[in-house]
Amino acid sequence: MTLLRTLSISFVLVILWAGPLNATDAQTWNASEIRALQSLWIGSLPPLPDDPSNKYADDYKAIALGKKLFFDARLSANGKVACATCHIEDKSFTDNLPVAHGIEDTSRRSMPLAGMAYSPWLFWDGRADSLWAQALGPIENPVEHGISRTKCVLLVNEFYRKEYKEIFGDLPEISNNDFNPKASPVIDDKEAKALWISMSPDKQELITRLYANIGKSIGAFVRTIQPGKSSFDRYAEAVFKGDMENMEKILTDDEAFGLKLFIGKAQCINCHNGPLFTNNDFHDVGVPKRPKFDKDPGREQGIPQVLSNEFNCLGKYSDADPDECLELQFIDTDAEKYRGAMKTPSLRNVADRPPYMHAGQFATLSDVMKFYQKQAAGKSGADTGRPDIVHGILSDNDLVLLEAFLKKLDGPIYSAR
Ligand code: HEC
Ligand code: HEC
Repeated sequence: MTLLRTLSISFVLVILWAGPLNATDAQTWNASEIRALQSLWIGSLPPLPDDPSNKYADDYKAIALGKKLFFDARLSANGKVACATCHIEDKSFTDNLPVAHGIEDTSRRSMPLAGMAYSPWLFWDGRADSLWAQALGPIENPVEHGISRTKCVLLVNEFYRKEYKEIFGDLPEISNNDFNPKASPVIDDKEAKALWISMSPDKQELITRLYANIGKSIGAFVRTIQPGKSSFDRYAEAVFKGDMENMEKILTDDEAFGLKLFIGKAQCINCHNGPLFTNNDFHDVGVPKRPKFDKDPGREQGIPQVLSNEFNCLGKYSDADPDECLELQFIDTDAEKYRGAMKTPSLRNVADRPPYMHAGQFATLSDVMKFYQKQAAGKSGADTGRPDIVHGILSDNDLVLLEAFLKKLDGPIYSAR
């Protein structure tokens, strides 16, 4: 009787198991696949790394001021451009445009900000090595905020004097009578540079020090922008527990197959790896160049720029000891190797923020998938000598599955309230 029952149960099980064979394949993970899922899981994100170059990086008053500055359009030439103009909170801190628009069009796409405090290099070409150094770029960029550092300091003195003093200590009396709001050493404009040169070294030093502190405050806020759990992360947790019932509730078989391709045959994980789905490195994957522009040199130019950036970790406005600037000390300076290479973007929330690539070359995720398919087949038509893509042939159905998976990298984004 007992034997009979066991036999019949096994028989039923065999039938059930033999039935939806594909489903079992999609939702079954071997040990090395589970290790890959673990490496991508948000729970593997280490604690925020220190930023020794910014001693205010975790100061709650600096974060609060930085947040106000991030949203304040008064810090711009036309009173209309804030960081938040191009980094919109509801759009994963990007803007849905092919190239960002401030005072005028820029030449690259706005980048998502969640988790970027983990990134040693900022911008598509990595020309800044900290969030505070990064923040000082767009302010003096004529097509972004379009104001000089002098004007920026005068505005912060006017609107945020009290907050500034509470964080950074004393702030000398400064007024438009003593400082010409057009003066800047970096803006590509004869008058701005001449006015800067006519200032005494003490005054130049004062303005630049206050400007660096403004960057440190904005950087402290950007540091708080972090990704939360996506469907993929909840799925990974169910896999770790062997909880098949929840696994199947969270990802369909197609989505799970897409994940399998992502970490397997399609080799996306070679570059989109770790819990932020980026190796923080630079690659020329062969994206077509922007219409009307030369090919973007990318990291080739970013290397000399970050080395000479006055606000880098080794510069005089940094709070770090030189031996704390390991990334910069050990930077790969072979610029030629990085010709046309762009920073691998994080893929968290990627489906929510078209268009894609460094100049919005692709309007949809399926365009991106078709691009990768052609890259593998070696007929992309892109003008690159050396795409780093090594995956094998992807079928049309593979593309559908990969895209289905990428949509499961959706999740909340948190930032300091
Ligand atoms: C006019 C639109 C615009 C404005 C204004 C703007 N950004 Fe950006 N942001 C961009 C673009 C475009 C990029 C990529 C630029 C590049 O690579 O040259 C970028 C890149 C970044 C990055 C790098 C992210 C990464 O993954 O490397 C950070 C951080 C950032 N911006 C923060 C800020 C902050 C803080 C401000 C305000 C001080 C600001 N942005 C103002 C458009 C803008
Ligand atoms: C050799 C490294 C590398 C590999 C392998 C790779 N990527 Fe990328 N990926 C990048 C880089 C670099 C960019 C940005 C390229 C640019 O803008 O010029 C990118 C961009 C993307 C984007 C657009 C994201 C955005 O914010 O614009 C998506 C989506 C994407 N990759 C998905 C994939 C998928 C899916 C695979 C596997 C089929 C894959 N990648 C394989 C490096 C890689």
